[in-house]
Amino acid sequence: MVALATEHVIDVHHWNDSLFSFRTTRDPGFRFDSGHFVMMGLEVDGRPLMRAYSIASANYEEHLEFFSIKVANGPLTSRLQHLKPGDPVIVSRKPTGTLVLNDLKPGKHLYLLGTGTGLAPFLSIVRDPETYERFDKIVLAHGVRHINDLAYADYLENQLPQHEYLGELVREKLIYYPSVTREAFRNRGRITDSIADGVMSEAIGLPPLNPATDRIMLCGSPAMLDDICTLLDGRGFHASPRTREPGDYVIERAFVEK
Ligand code: A2P
Repeated sequence: MVALATEHVIDVHHWNDSLFSFRTTRDPGFRFDSGHFVMMGLEVDGRPLMRAYSIASANYEEHLEFFSIKVANGPLTSRLQHLKPGDPVIVSRKPTGTLVLNDLKPGKHLYLLGTGTGLAPFLSIVRDPETYERFDKIVLAHGVRHINDLAYADYLENQLPQHEYLGELVREKLIYYPSVTREAFRNRGRITDSIADGVMSEAIGLPPLNPATDRIMLCGSPAMLDDICTLLDGRGFHASPRTREPGDYVIERAFVEK
């Protein structure tokens, strides 16, 4: 039985009808690596109802942050979306996951490719100074259906570059590439297609993906992961094997059935 801790909601932000974020207190003894996920949820009828959630906050921050969809009939998110400051949530004490810097070989450019709530683990990674120590450029690509699904866009474009400690590194190294599939936008189309046809590399001013220089983290739906893995494997990239030997890329399913 995994030990559980009760934390309390600090604040909640609703991005639109289907996406929200919230912050909770954090036990000072709770440690995680940027990119990890944890089981999180609520007590319902006297029992914990929990799902896997990537931690969106930085591992040095005093709070925990989560980014979630709202599923009308979802056992957990139909309840979670009504959270208010002060409400209790349950967090397991065993964070884990594959989207960690140590599972990647050294490289020049780090690509963080996420769709939907698959953005969450990358929010932690782009707030980690170690990411900027290891790579010359970090490309954060977020693929969504509609413009108003681009949660954290203002944070990534305007606030993080002004961050007291990280701002200078972010301005020099972080490239944010938001992409929208179902309405007109400056970057239009699926991330897979934008990589395949060279549109993304042209827009961000970097060469096409190359296993000699580039490392990649993927977080999205099973279909998105399948498509991008096929594309990467075709270009000579090797996924990090389960033995935890570092590889050219690592993957994790965005946890959506909630
Ligand atoms: P699309 O609008 O063409 O389905 P979702 O909200 O369903 O998780 O989708 C988030 C984003 O991921 C959408 O822009 C969606 O595009 C895109 N997407 C869905 N399937 C794939 C895939 N196989 N490869 C790349 N992107 C995908």
